[in-house]
Amino acid sequence: MRKSAVLAVTPKQKTGNSDRFPLLSQQNIYPYTDLLLHDMGAGLDDSVKEKNAESFEWRTPPLWGIGIVARDPEARFLHDGRASSLTEAILWHGGEAESTKTRFTQLSATQKQTLMTFLKGI
Ligand code: HEM
Repeated sequence: MRKSAVLAVTPKQKTGNSDRFPLLSQQNIYPYTDLLLHDMGAGLDDSVKEKNAESFEWRTPPLWGIGIVARDPEARFLHDGRASSLTEAILWHGGEAESTKTRFTQLSATQKQTLMTFLKGI
C-alpha cells in the first residue's frame, strides 16, 4: 500500500499483539517511519524489482537512533550506503519526496541546523 508523502516520517506507531512477548504488545513506540514503500524517484532506482517493490520504491527506514549512527565519521546512509551524511541522504530524496527535498534546500542555514539537531536527537 502506498501512502502520501506527508506520512513517511510518522513519529508514533503502536505495536501489535504478541503471544510470545506480551510485554511488547500494544506499546507506543516512536520509530519516525510509516514503514511503507515509497516511490523515491529515478535517482534511487536500482533497476531491480523485488517482490512487491518496484525498482524505484524503498521502505522508509526508522529514523530513531540515526543520530547515534551519524556520530560515526564512517557512517553511510540510504539502501546502498551512497550518502555519507544526513544532509546528503535528504538530497537524494526524489519521487514522492521531491517536494520535501525542495523545501529542505530552501531552508536557511539556521533552519537546516535545527533540523539536524532534531534528527540527531530522535
Ligand atoms: C523532513 C523530512 C525528511 C527527513 C529529515 C528524511 C530523512 C531521511 C534520512 C536521514 C534517510 C536515510 C536513513 C538511513 O539511511 O537510515 C531517509 C531515507 C528515506 N526516506 Fe526520508 N526523510 C524525510 C522525508 C521523507 C519523505 C517525505 C519520504 C517519502 C515520501 C521519505 C522516504 C524515505 C525513504 C523511502 C528512505 C529510504 C531510501 C533508501 O534507502 O534509498 N522521506 N530519509
